[in-house]
Amino acid sequence: MKKVTIRVPATTANLGPGFDAFGCALSLYTDVTFEEMESGLEITGCDEAYAGPDNMAYTSYCAVLESLSEEIRGVKIHIDAQIPICRGLGSSAALLVAGAMGANVLRGNKLSTQGLLNITNAMEGHPDNLAPAFFGGLTASMVDNGLPVTVNFPLHPDWEFLALVPDFDLPTPLARSVLPTEYDRADAVYNIAHGALVLKALELGDEKLLRTAMQDRIHQPHRKKMITDYDQIEGLIRTTGAAFCVSGAGPTLLCITRNPGLEEKLAKKLDAITKANWQMIPLHIEFQGAHVIDGE
Ligand code: HSE
Repeated sequence: MKKVTIRVPATTANLGPGFDAFGCALSLYTDVTFEEMESGLEITGCDEAYAGPDNMAYTSYCAVLESLSEEIRGVKIHIDAQIPICRGLGSSAALLVAGAMGANVLRGNKLSTQGLLNITNAMEGHPDNLAPAFFGGLTASMVDNGLPVTVNFPLHPDWEFLALVPDFDLPTPLARSVLPTEYDRADAVYNIAHGALVLKALELGDEKLLRTAMQDRIHQPHRKKMITDYDQIEGLIRTTGAAFCVSGAGPTLLCITRNPGLEEKLAKKLDAITKANWQMIPLHIEFQGAHVIDGE
C-alpha cells in the first residue's frame, strides 16, 4: 500500500494590518503521514478528540479525492506536530494542506498547488495561512470570484522572528466572533496604507519602518482583551525596538527584528509582568512550502 509523509511549515497570518490577506511561513513544522489501506480510518499522534472523521487532515484528504472523482479507500494518518494547536501559528491550515497534498501525491499528482489551494480555501474561508503553508515565504492573497489569488513578496533575509506562545489557547472562531462587522472609512484607509508599508519594510529590512507600519485597527484592538497581559507585554517589546503584532488570530505574540539577543532581553523581564507562562520560540522565515519528505 502506498505511503507518503508531507511536511508543512507553521504560518503567521495578518502581520498586523494585513487581516485575512498577509501570511508568512516560519521554521516550525507539522509532518503528516498517509498510508492507504483497504478500508477504515486510523488517526494517531493527536488527542483522541481529534482522531475521527472530522480531523482536518482527513477532511481535506477526502475533499481532494472527491474533486478527482477518486475512490476514498481506507487510510492511516499519523500526525507529528511541532506547531502548537490553537495558538495562531497555522496548526489547522497545516493539517488541511497536508491532507490535500497527501491525497494528491498518493493519486499521481494530478492537481497543481493552486488547485489544492482552491479546494482548501473553500474549506477554511480565508487563504492567509494556507497560501504561505503551500508556497513558503511571505504571501499576500485575495479571493476573487470565490478563488484565491496569491503572490509572493520578497523578504530581506536578515529578519529574525521570536514567537511568544502562551499556555492558554484562543480558538479562531472565538477570536473572529469579537470583530465588528462594519468599520469606519478612516480605519480602512489606515490599514490599507499600513499594510502596503509593512510589505515594503519587510522587503527592505527596515526595522524602524516596520515598527511604525505594523499597526492595525481591524482586529488587534478587539482581540487584545482576550490575551492575558497584552498591554504590558507589548510595552516591554516596544522598549526593545522590535516590530510587534498578534500572530494570526492570537494568542501568540510575534516580534520581528534584525538585532540578535531579543530573547535574552525579554526573558529577564517577561515573568515579572505577566501571570501566564509564555514560551519563547526563535524562528526564521521558511521559504519552502509544503513538500514530501518521505514516500511517493
Ligand atoms: N486571518 C485570520 C484571522 C487568521 O485573523 O482570523 C486565523 O485563521
